[in-house]
Amino acid sequence: GAPLLRPHKGWVLRWFDELPQPVLGRSHALNNSAMDGTPAQIMLPCLFTHLPRVLDVVILEFGSLALHLHHPSIEAIVRRLRTLQPPPAVVFVTVRGLCKRAQREDAATVRVTQSRSGERVPWELYGANETTPWSLAEASFERVCAHYDASCLSLYAAVGEGLQQSRPNFALDDVASDCLHPSTGKLGTEYMADLLAHWQRAAMALPPPPPPPDAPTRAPPSVARSPEKAAAGATTRNHERRTPRSGSSLMFARSRTTSTPQAESGAVALGLPRSKALKILGICGSLRTASCNHGLLRAAAEQAEAKGVDFRIVGVGDLPLYNEDLDGHQAPKAVRLWKAAVAAADGVFIASPETNFGLSAPLKNALDWASRHPSNLWKGKAAAVASAGGATSGGARAQMQLRQVGVFLDLTFVNAPEVAIRRFEDKCFDEATGELRSDTWRGRVGELLERLLKLAAIMRKAHSETI
Ligand SMILES: Cc1cc2nc3c(=O)[nH]c(=O)nc-3n(C[C@H](O)[C@H](O)[C@H](O)COP(=O)(O)O)c2cc1C
Repeated sequence: GAPLLRPHKGWVLRWFDELPQPVLGRSHALNNSAMDGTPAQIMLPCLFTHLPRVLDVVILEFGSLALHLHHPSIEAIVRRLRTLQPPPAVVFVTVRGLCKRAQREDAATVRVTQSRSGERVPWELYGANETTPWSLAEASFERVCAHYDASCLSLYAAVGEGLQQSRPNFALDDVASDCLHPSTGKLGTEYMADLLAHWQRAAMALPPPPPPPDAPTRAPPSVARSPEKAAAGATTRNHERRTPRSGSSLMFARSRTTSTPQAESGAVALGLPRSKALKILGICGSLRTASCNHGLLRAAAEQAEAKGVDFRIVGVGDLPLYNEDLDGHQAPKAVRLWKAAVAAADGVFIASPETNFGLSAPLKNALDWASRHPSNLWKGKAAAVASAGGATSGGARAQMQLRQVGVFLDLTFVNAPEVAIRRFEDKCFDEATGELRSDTWRGRVGELLERLLKLAAIMRKAHSETI
């Protein structure tokens, strides 16, 4: 129809237009490796017949073919791309169907179209947490994306809340008037370009651009809550007048090897090419300021860092109590950051107290948040558990409970050595700071860490064959 025939500059080109000149050099070229209606399983064999071998950024967007894709083929493409030297930054951008046929035509049906037979067909938005073929496809992309530490961007995550709440500039006609293709929305293409611009700024740790004086008044996507994200949601036409803070080409984005849960992409998790260093997530089941369990984690982190391991302790105190109504793409920011941290880890080192003969509530809550929507993120990870607890067992009973929960979560625990410290009897912590003061226990923590690293390395290798 007419909207598709009008001269239309696509979202990648618009993003290119907005890249600062030092980033986008004369030697950069845009290669389109996709053909309309070509699913990944057919694309794979001829991927490099027309693509150069040196690529800075690869954007994977399967659009309306998402429902017909063979997901092992998507994974195969990513694995193939990762063999390139140097490896490119891989960005998954997902776009999904937004509407379904409505049973009735009323205020809730946001759109009515005329079918070929002349019948009026009412459509309504999918619910925010509704499981649909599209949400399942997107979850599957995210799983591949997170596993390979690529960047995952979702148009729905960026605009879904605005659509659901009928915010200005987030009507279907703004996002995708045919319920699917952003190019059919008045602002859909700009939203897509904004997603990429936001990703690029986060990947290069660039400051947000000042809003251009002639910026249109459209509201930023719903992800744009912080000043940085607000800028990401705003139009970015002024980029070429900015100078990047560091690095002068997209090579910089590619050469960064660490992704931080703090460096959120706005839509979903931001990740960069997977580092060779093992990533261990340290989880503390106590929220106490002078927590001895946190002291155990710090002792593990120091020893891990000396071995070149990326050991990151991420707090769980900001997570709300688990509520499935809040889970999914619209989950609170703390939850999205938490999931990103779990997804990026090869293994977890958990140090937690026992409370009333059981798992500590903050720990169980944190485990639950990463156990679904889009999928169980603990699956296939190596785990070690340590505890500092009360008089009789030092937390050993909670350790056994954790192992039991871990069966369902598909965590694989190392079995020894046991680190269960009786805080009050053993007196090996600085009570004011939680610092572990005992060389003997530091040694035990080191042994436990060593076992965890070996297991995590084996499991990472096994999983790199396939997920
Ligand atoms: C509500 C509560 C219940 C507890 N129940 C147990 C228990 O069942 N078993 C145990 O070994 N210690 C128990 N403790 C002691 C804690 O495990 C101990 O104080 C531990 O050091 C707290 O961890 P943290 O130092 O990391 O904050 C309990 C403490 C509290 C506050």
